[in-house]
Amino acid sequence: MRKKECVAELKPDSILKHFQNHPSVVKAFSKENLSALDVGCRVPCPLFVIYHDFNFTLLKGIELSSESDAVKSFLKDAKAENLDLKTIYDVYLKDLKLDEEDIRLGKQLVDEITFKKHFKILFNLPADWYFTKVQDTTMFDYVILSNVLHLNLEPTATTIFEGAIARLKSDGLIFVRVNHRQNPVAKKLRHRTYGEREFKKLFAGFNEILFCKDKNDNNTGFKSMIFFGSKK
Ligand SMILES: C[S@@+](CC[C@H](N)C(=O)[O-])C[C@H]1O[C@@H](n2cnc3c(N)ncnc32)[C@H](O)[C@@H]1O
Repeated sequence: MRKKECVAELKPDSILKHFQNHPSVVKAFSKENLSALDVGCRVPCPLFVIYHDFNFTLLKGIELSSESDAVKSFLKDAKAENLDLKTIYDVYLKDLKLDEEDIRLGKQLVDEITFKKHFKILFNLPADWYFTKVQDTTMFDYVILSNVLHLNLEPTATTIFEGAIARLKSDGLIFVRVNHRQNPVAKKLRHRTYGEREFKKLFAGFNEILFCKDKNDNNTGFKSMIFFGSKK
């Protein structure tokens, strides 16, 4: 299996864009009726992208905060607080720009009713609660844990990680992004960070498609680490 290490800043959606021609991704996402779960999704931009690039019919998100707080936080990070967006559907319409190739292929953004048929975003729900208390046995072809594990203390972080793995189909793909130990902002905010060995140990039972470290903004170290792969 091809392994690739990169040090460039890549967002989850562009990572998938970048790797969607990888044989493992093509194989995993070449079916009909695919399902994806984005844990701690805030505004689930990676789900918007895969909805248009593959045949996903269920795109579920779990988010601790309310929809309006999630959108506000997203806009703040994107330095776009002046935009009058209230819902994730508003962000979807604004954020997902189809390129010429997409349009040539006949892709178009969907109306709100269609959007809500496929996107099931559960706000005000702690992920550990979802995994342990909610009666839902859906298994997913793709699970995303992006920048969420390091916001939770133990044992909650482990409950979330194990819950997510348990919901991943045997041939599904998982994407996990955490703060690197060298992340200066995380240190300041006292968010948890991960060492490389500790992070890689989490994926002992996985096939690695990508392990990626991205440089922090002042180029003095790494900001986060990403694992993208499948169960063995
Ligand atoms: C830093 S944001 C990351 C958002 C998105 N996943 C990304 O990578 O851009 C972390 C999000 O995870 C949510 N979150 C943190 N702990 C959570 C938990 N235990 N259950 C559900 N959501 C959680 C936060 O509310 C926040 O919206």
